Amino acid sequence: MRPAPVQAATGDSLGVAATKAGLYFGVAASPGRLSGIVGREFSQLTPENDMKPDTIAGHGGTVQNTGSADTLVDYAQSNNMIVRGHTMVWYSQAGSLSGANQPTLNTYIKNVLLKWGNKIAYWDVVNEALDDNNTGERRNQWPHTLDKDANNDGDYFDSSDTDYIRDSFKQARQVVDSNGLRTKLCINDYDIEGLTVKGGSKNKKSDAMYEIVKKYSQEPYKYIDCVGFQAHFNDNPNSIITDDLEDNIRRFAELGVEVHLSELDIDDDLSNNDIGAGQAANYRKVVRACLNVAKCTGITVWGISDSESWRSSERGLLFTGSNGNYTKKAAYTAVLEELKKGRGTVDPTPTPTDSPTPTPTDSPTPTPTDTPTSTPTGSPTQPPESDCRVSYSDNTWNTGFTAAVTVENAGDDTIDGWSLTWTWPGDQKVTSAWNATVTQSGNRVTARNASYNSLLAPGATASFGFQASYSGSNDAPQEFALNGVTCTRG
Ligand code: XIL
Repeated sequence: MRPAPVQAATGDSLGVAATKAGLYFGVAASPGRLSGIVGREFSQLTPENDMKPDTIAGHGGTVQNTGSADTLVDYAQSNNMIVRGHTMVWYSQAGSLSGANQPTLNTYIKNVLLKWGNKIAYWDVVNEALDDNNTGERRNQWPHTLDKDANNDGDYFDSSDTDYIRDSFKQARQVVDSNGLRTKLCINDYDIEGLTVKGGSKNKKSDAMYEIVKKYSQEPYKYIDCVGFQAHFNDNPNSIITDDLEDNIRRFAELGVEVHLSELDIDDDLSNNDIGAGQAANYRKVVRACLNVAKCTGITVWGISDSESWRSSERGLLFTGSNGNYTKKAAYTAVLEELKKGRGTVDPTPTPTDSPTPTPTDSPTPTPTDTPTSTPTGSPTQPPESDCRVSYSDNTWNTGFTAAVTVENAGDDTIDGWSLTWTWPGDQKVTSAWNATVTQSGNRVTARNASYNSLLAPGATASFGFQASYSGSNDAPQEFALNGVTCTRG
């Protein structure tokens, strides 16, 4: 039996404010730091060290010693937090994996993915592949020693080349797909946050990451789902907060991948103010940059309190104190305020390939939504009867709620363009949505795919969410229909 969740009922927490804005707000932790604040304040958890190979990799790609990681996963599940697995293939903290060949890495990748399955929403498959000092090159130690530039053209993108990044993601994708997992596969690095670095020159490390993500997130590969900008901001010239942070997030988002600020901390820099502004203002700026791009779907702070941080001298986090006895800093308040403002005008100039614009759905002239066969894009293939499955969960407070909806194509044909319809049993009214365009007319609701999740291969899922108000009771809809066909519930 799991312990009862300790999620705050008031809605006044970073996690709840983030959920309402359509992203997660999480924290890195170890089992010794699981005081109540973790479950109360955050909606996502990253094991700070307990899933790294030096803890859990055994001989030949086996997985062992997972007790601490299991504790974190169980805690997250008990507290409605999603988990970001961190990390598989990394030159550091590699333990017995260090120096492994690709077949052994592949065994390990398979074992870790299957160990936790869908309990892990996102996994960092490859971490810190790129070199320091803005060279745009890869790091020269293992696992890069597995790479071979067969035709000597300066990259690892040719089919004759060997690329441990491609091959590790290929294996991860194969394991995810062949086991029906929903886990999303991320690449993670630092000093890739801005388009530029201090002084205005190009951020070559970020450009190099962009080329990797561009190559391996698109057809025919489709390996990479997400990119983590670690976001350890400090006064190193390559680690400052630049004004083009938002533009760089958007550049990656427009490839169709999710962007996470995966390890956020911000040096408070009292002695040397290279980083500019105050810490709270810097937090506000960084959180806003993410909120302004719809596919920036999560932020994780790298620890709870300054004194317990991996970089305690920077005082880079949102709380002071220790051992569960924490005090909120000005930076905490700034983040909460910014999250509560929501996404605002998201992506004012969306490109055709990406940048969904979640349409506020309480517009005065709602589109009539009772046209069950209407589809937004392309010429859809209608699934045969009941060949869709829908899961629906809500998180309700006094007068409002957020809901997460997952649609699955349970048929044999690919669906290109979908609309999901339902009828509210009460007076629920959708007020905003993400990852789909949701319109409401009376009590009939239509959720249409965003440009980047229109295609549903057999067995594939698309997830979206929304915020709504209600009075009285908030009963879930009884029936959902996908492109006019009634779905089973799952
Ligand atoms: C750090 C942890 O916070 C420390 O406790 C540990 O001693 C070293 O690793 N980039 C990463 C994280 O991807 O795994 C690192 O975490 C911080 C930098």
